[in-house]
Amino acid sequence: MKKLFFISLFSACVFINPLIAQNNSESMDKKIEEIIKQLTLKEKLDMCHAQSKFSSKGVARLGIPELWMSDGPHGVRAEIEWDTWNHAQWTNDSCTAFPALTCLAATFNPDLSYKYGKAIGQEARYRKKDVLLGPGVNIYRTPLNGRNFEYMGEDPYLASKMVVPYIHGVQENGVAACVKHYVLNNQEHWRDHINVELSDRALYEIYLPAFKAAVQEGKVWSIMGAYNQFRGQYCCHNELLVNKILKKDWAFDGTLITDWGATHNTKQAALYGLDIEMGTGTDGLTSSSKNAYDNYYLANPLRKMIENGEIEESVVDDKVRRILRLMFRTSMNKSRPFGSMNSQEHFDIAREIAQEGIVLLKNEDNFFPIDPKTTKTIAIIGENATKVMTLGGGSSELKTIHEISPLQGFQERFTNANILHAMGYSSGPSVYGRVIPSKLNAKSLRSQAVKIASQADMVLYVGGLNKNHHQDCEGDDRLQFELPFEQEKLLSEILKVNKNTALILVSGNAVEMPWISKVKAIAQVWYLGSEAGHAIADIISGDVNPSGKLPFTFPVKLEDNAAHSFGKLSYPGDGKNQEYKEDILVGYRWHDTKNIKPLFEFGFGLSYTNFDITNTSSDKNTYHSNDTISISCEIKNTGKVDGKETIQIYAKDKSSSVLRPSKELKGFKKINLRAGESKTIQIKIPVKKLSFFDDTNMNWKLEKGEFQFLIGTSSRNIYQSIDIKVE
Ligand code: BGC
Repeated sequence: MKKLFFISLFSACVFINPLIAQNNSESMDKKIEEIIKQLTLKEKLDMCHAQSKFSSKGVARLGIPELWMSDGPHGVRAEIEWDTWNHAQWTNDSCTAFPALTCLAATFNPDLSYKYGKAIGQEARYRKKDVLLGPGVNIYRTPLNGRNFEYMGEDPYLASKMVVPYIHGVQENGVAACVKHYVLNNQEHWRDHINVELSDRALYEIYLPAFKAAVQEGKVWSIMGAYNQFRGQYCCHNELLVNKILKKDWAFDGTLITDWGATHNTKQAALYGLDIEMGTGTDGLTSSSKNAYDNYYLANPLRKMIENGEIEESVVDDKVRRILRLMFRTSMNKSRPFGSMNSQEHFDIAREIAQEGIVLLKNEDNFFPIDPKTTKTIAIIGENATKVMTLGGGSSELKTIHEISPLQGFQERFTNANILHAMGYSSGPSVYGRVIPSKLNAKSLRSQAVKIASQADMVLYVGGLNKNHHQDCEGDDRLQFELPFEQEKLLSEILKVNKNTALILVSGNAVEMPWISKVKAIAQVWYLGSEAGHAIADIISGDVNPSGKLPFTFPVKLEDNAAHSFGKLSYPGDGKNQEYKEDILVGYRWHDTKNIKPLFEFGFGLSYTNFDITNTSSDKNTYHSNDTISISCEIKNTGKVDGKETIQIYAKDKSSSVLRPSKELKGFKKINLRAGESKTIQIKIPVKKLSFFDDTNMNWKLEKGEFQFLIGTSSRNIYQSIDIKVE
């Protein structure tokens, strides 16, 4: 009888368009309640934890499907075995590798973020995934963080603007985005236990906004908790972060999923907001033992506590309610599209994002672009000219159908040139969690490279970091700020024999550049995925004019970075605790307020043309708290080639009662201008966005007084300013 009732109920949900059902939350909520009534406690608990490395149970007898998840965030990860981390060796799971999220952030182009989300969502859907584990929006606090490449930079406003369209794009496919890692997972070293302490102001002004935007503007359907602790409680079951801020204050109606192995306590997991537990290593789970998943914190241990009366079953009902809501939006959404994989359109999107994200950092004597008709001899030196970068790095590793190397990109585009290549250095094989020294002889690699450098008209040095352990890789941090693998030595020997040398820097992080004055040009090219070599050649040849902007500051030396200015307790902590002593002064907020000149500032990036900004004005001089300020300016491409420029508006509070950063990004717009063309643009800023978080009464506070807007093309290249008053 019960079963029959369910069938009619379930068919009712699939006959109406579930997308409509999703909007009509009242009817969805009603159905969810009906389903919950029919579930046994065991069935409910089964939905709250993993049944394999990347899936959780549905209810087979009722036809409620399983939930399948996949990393994220740069492509859909290859299939992993049921109970181990080994690849399942499928032959149909190669994907399009999109550029790393630092590159996406560097485009300063929310439209591209939407395209990225939509395309990766289509791939996830085609691969029958319900939840895509990404994107990540942890703030770039230190250049040593091994995982910065998976995040969107140091500025909460930029990360917020870029994360929202990505989520919309993914979720249009009936696939949930899972924004990670909530929150304060700003380093990999000791990530599994370090306890982060910081002020409420820093939490609300710097580290939470991108997550809040993901929930309130992105309407994201799932969030992944972080590994670390915050104020003595693990983030995946944290009373303040999850129950109060995420679920109560922000009214998040989705599912909180743990990071893999980030659950630590049954009672807290039950009561402090965790909905789905994944990756717990209890009972030998890496090699699968019988009913191992029943030993998860939210499985038998929680069942016992409920049966003893220690915890009420309604606690589990709330989790199941959220999981069913996630399912109605994804796995039980019958009208979602079918998705697609490896289409030319996806590769084109990957290439377009890569082109727009590459940042030209230096270009002495217009070294770039290099005319593709050149018949000169070009020495392409460096391991990164050929190294596969979609492998390694941790959970964001990808099995892609192709990855065009920088060398291949140059060879295809510069067909008349005489291209020589030498590896120059070797980083050793990439093994997750281990550093294996290279067996190749460093001296002879170097001398081969120096030899071809001396024979060439110019050298393109393709180096930087890679996806090995202790580089740009999950699980631990970088051990050094300078270029690794003795690259500085190699570079200095190359420069002795050929001054016509430029650098193609492959990394997801800033590096120290004591040699900067000696190289002619530098392009920051990130990790670009499938179309890497094509996109790099597009920029170097001048087929595409560079327009990327740095989403984080490059300090001259590590000690100039805020997190590294306060001793070990600030970074990496004492092994147990860590204090974010720089408080709200992260990235350019620190450099500009303290007057510490960076090597390259936030928002910086050159072009092959020049721009000028004039005629800046605001619609009024005086505003009230509910107003929106409209700032307009004219931007002109004064050079000889077409190009894109990003106008950035920073606000400065001139009469604050508390310390405020000397400037904060409040708006930006990327514009395409033909050579000689000018356009007038408008950027709108709600007055409320000028508030600071007042921790004396735990709310945002807007103070009366004078504010200044700085309008420029980077955080330091300011063309004009406007003063306004708030009353
Ligand atoms: C990572 C997550 C990832 C998960 C599953 C964890 O180690 O921190 O970002 O989604 O593994 O692979």
